[in-house]
Amino acid sequence: MATQTTNTRGNWNSKLGFVLAAAGSAVGLGNIWRFPTVMAENGGAAFLLVYALLVFIIGYPVMVAELSIGRSSKKNPVGAFRALSNSKFFPIVGFWCVLCGIAILSFYVIVAGWTLSYFFEQIFHYAGMMEAAQWISALDNGLLNATVAIIFMALTVWIILGGVSDGIERTVKFLMPLLLIVMVIMIVYVLFQPGAGEGIRVYLVPDFSAIDGDLILSALGQAFFSLSLGMGALITYGSYLSRKENIPEVGGYVTFADIGIAFLAGLLIMPAIFMAQAQGVEVFNEDGSLFAGVALIFQILPELFHNMGGVIGLIFGATFFLLLSIAALTSSISLLEVPTSYVIDEHKVRRKRAAIYVGSAVTVISIVIAFDTSLIGTIDFIFSDIGLPLGGLMMCIFLGYVWKMERAKDELRQGFENVDNSKFFPVWSIFIRFICPALIILILSMTVYNAVT
Ligand code: TRP
Repeated sequence: MATQTTNTRGNWNSKLGFVLAAAGSAVGLGNIWRFPTVMAENGGAAFLLVYALLVFIIGYPVMVAELSIGRSSKKNPVGAFRALSNSKFFPIVGFWCVLCGIAILSFYVIVAGWTLSYFFEQIFHYAGMMEAAQWISALDNGLLNATVAIIFMALTVWIILGGVSDGIERTVKFLMPLLLIVMVIMIVYVLFQPGAGEGIRVYLVPDFSAIDGDLILSALGQAFFSLSLGMGALITYGSYLSRKENIPEVGGYVTFADIGIAFLAGLLIMPAIFMAQAQGVEVFNEDGSLFAGVALIFQILPELFHNMGGVIGLIFGATFFLLLSIAALTSSISLLEVPTSYVIDEHKVRRKRAAIYVGSAVTVISIVIAFDTSLIGTIDFIFSDIGLPLGGLMMCIFLGYVWKMERAKDELRQGFENVDNSKFFPVWSIFIRFICPALIILILSMTVYNAVT
């Protein structure tokens, strides 16, 4: 039985492979589309500050928790909670995780589909095919949205079919570094454009009066979303992780990679917003909310590339959107992997079938959203801002009070021999048992309170 499980479940080939796959899951639309959008809506630097704090105070400890639960149980979230306790309640939490994954994936493939559309928009624009460029970039065309979402879902399913190491690991290994390079070059370009200074100021000089309940909840949701936490993606990825690896260490790499790319995306997009404004593009509504909303980066960045002009603009524009769709792909596979591994493990369905079933089911939801993209904001709020922190809270409670810290310590010891003498464990233990749950409960109840009053 044990050997069969290892054979069919697969493993990462190397530490680098795992770090890149987990970082690939973390780095995606959350960093480059969601982060700047949410931040621009929440007053820039103040948001960045709260977000960064929450990543370290809550995100990183929860990430270590998820990886430990996953590697110890070698299961999907539902199976993991079942395997590590007799609780009747926590498998339900596992279902909630699977549900969040499905909901987030359903809109994720649409936004990811837009990145594909804009890849072609850049090419058509360069080729002077203005009508085609306009057609493919019309984000309110339901049929088009549905088509690109289906294409993107098909790509996601196709990679998942390849299994863990061949499919996922190979894809991320060389594309992640490439994305980084393109972004850095673009930032350098943007920083020399008129209006950029104002964007940098808004991005880096905090206005503390902007910090309120909404901002804190958004920052918490963003921390979970961006790190792929709270729905068991990292339980699932951790389940394929070798016992030779040091969980706090690899978790640290993933966290830094994620927050690093988000920071760079902000450095690119905040100045770009103000450049666009300097050029007369309407960016904010009168009440300060974003004019373009979820379509922010799709209204501002393509213009930026067009303005770079010529082949240079084409090369940067096309490369950027292509890499962004690849970053989105390495994230969407982790979203699909959770429900898929659940179906494989718990219903004994083969990987191929499982991936195709789940992918098709989610696509049906995506098609509905494709025709009314305002649903994206609502679903995102319910499942990302509320659902993920709730999931994270449950994982802390599970680890701290049901599975218990000592057993987590035994798991950490594999690959981290020094855990008994290091300061890491006692500090982490306090975070998981007290600080993280208390903060999450506080922030969530603040939201409920604000919504009711
Ligand atoms: N973190 C990814 C991003 O930033 C999205 C993502 C992938 C995700 N897997 C997840 C979000 C699991 C929440 C939970 O784009």
